[in-house]
Amino acid sequence: MTRNAFRFSVITYEDCVAMTSMRDMIPINQPSLGKEEVEAVVEVLKSGILSEKSGRGPNVLQFEKEFAKFVGAKHAVAVSSGTAALHSALLAAGIQPEDEVVIPSFTFSATAGAVVLAGGRTSFADIDADTYCVTRETIEVALTRRTKVIMPVHIYGLCADMNPIMDLARSRGIAVIEDAAQAHGAGCNGQQVGSIGDATCFSFYPGKNMTTGEGGMVTTNDDDLAEQVRMIRTHGEERPYWVSRQGHNYHMPEISAAIGIVQLRKLPTFLQERRKNAEYLTEKLSVLGKLMMPKEPAGLKHAWYLFTPRLRGANAGKRNKLVEKLRARNIAASVYYESPVHMLPFYRDLQSTRRSALPETERACRQVFSLPVHPQLKPTELQYIVDSVKRAI
Ligand SMILES: Cc1ncc(COP(=O)(O)O)c(C=O)c1O
Repeated sequence: MTRNAFRFSVITYEDCVAMTSMRDMIPINQPSLGKEEVEAVVEVLKSGILSEKSGRGPNVLQFEKEFAKFVGAKHAVAVSSGTAALHSALLAAGIQPEDEVVIPSFTFSATAGAVVLAGGRTSFADIDADTYCVTRETIEVALTRRTKVIMPVHIYGLCADMNPIMDLARSRGIAVIEDAAQAHGAGCNGQQVGSIGDATCFSFYPGKNMTTGEGGMVTTNDDDLAEQVRMIRTHGEERPYWVSRQGHNYHMPEISAAIGIVQLRKLPTFLQERRKNAEYLTEKLSVLGKLMMPKEPAGLKHAWYLFTPRLRGANAGKRNKLVEKLRARNIAASVYYESPVHMLPFYRDLQSTRRSALPETERACRQVFSLPVHPQLKPTELQYIVDSVKRAI
C-alpha cells in the first residue's frame, strides 16, 4: 500500500495505540540517513583524507559548491557548527566591543551566544504573534546608533519577512546576518534563504532539515566577507601559517562534508515530506478551536523544521500539562522555547544586554508547543499524533 493510500485508510485510535506502544517514543526530530551516507563515509575513510589543514578538503569544496548553488549564493563556506557559522559571520562583519546586534529573544541561546563570543552586545527585539519572527517594526524599537548588525532568526523554518527588514538595514547602513539554523529550504518572495542578507548561517546538527553530524555553513554574495570567514575558520591565516586576523579552528571534517553532499541531494525530498506532514496536521488539528495553527503568510516559504501550534489563552502550566499528556502517549512533544533568552540566568545578569518590553515573546514562551513533523513519520504515527492531541486537549 502506498504511503498516501495508507494515510486515508480507517485505523482506529486503539489500533494506533497498540502500534505505537510497541515502539519507542516518536521523536520530535530524527535524521534521515541511508546507505548512501554510509557509503560516502566509507569512501572518505578509504581515502585517508579526514581533514585538510586549510579546511578545504575535496568533500568540503564539493559540499560548498553544491550548497551555494542550492541557495543561489556566490559563496558557501563550511564550518564546524551553526554557532561557529554565526560567530565567524559576526567577526567577518567587523563587530567591535561596543557594537550592538539586534536579535530575537525567542530563539535558541546560540544566537545570543555567538554575539557575546564575538564581543558584541545583544539588543533583543520582540516577535510577531503569528510568525514568531522579528519584523521591521519590532527591530526598529531595538535599534540604537550603536547597532551594527541585524540578525533575524527564521524560527521553526519560517522565513522572516525579509524585504522590509533589508530596506530598513540598507537605509541605516546596517549589515544583516540571518540565523537560518532551522531554515534550509525556506524562502521569501521567491528568493531562497541563503541569498537574501549580507550573510546567512545554517546548522547541520542532527534533526535539522539536513545533517552532517555537527556542522554549519555561511553563505554570502560578498567576496570579502567570504574570504574573511575562510580565514577565521583556519586560525585567521591569510596563507598557510601566516596569521593576519583573529581566527579559530572551525574546520568541517571531510566525513561530515561527505554526509552533507548526500543529505543536500535528498533535501528537496525531505522538504516535500515535511510539507505534506505539516499539511496533514494542519488539516486535522485546525478543527480544534483551542489551537492556533502555525502560519505560512503569502510570500513566505516555510521549511517546516518544527510544527508549532499555540494553545490559545493558556498559561505555561496549562500548556505544560498538555505536553506531559502527549509525552505519556509516547509522543515527544516539546517546548521551543520555555524561557526567552533574555530571562536565562546568563543573559538576565549580563550588563551589556539591551531590551525593551517583549510581550509577544513572553506570551509565545507560555503558549507554544511543537509536534513531530519530520520525514521519518509513518502515516499511522501522524494519525496517532492527531488523535492524541484531540484527546489530550
Ligand atoms: C536558531 C538556532 N541558532 C543557532 C543554532 C546553533 O547551531 P549548532 O547547534 O549547529 O551550533 C541552532 C541550533 O539548534 C538554532 O536552532
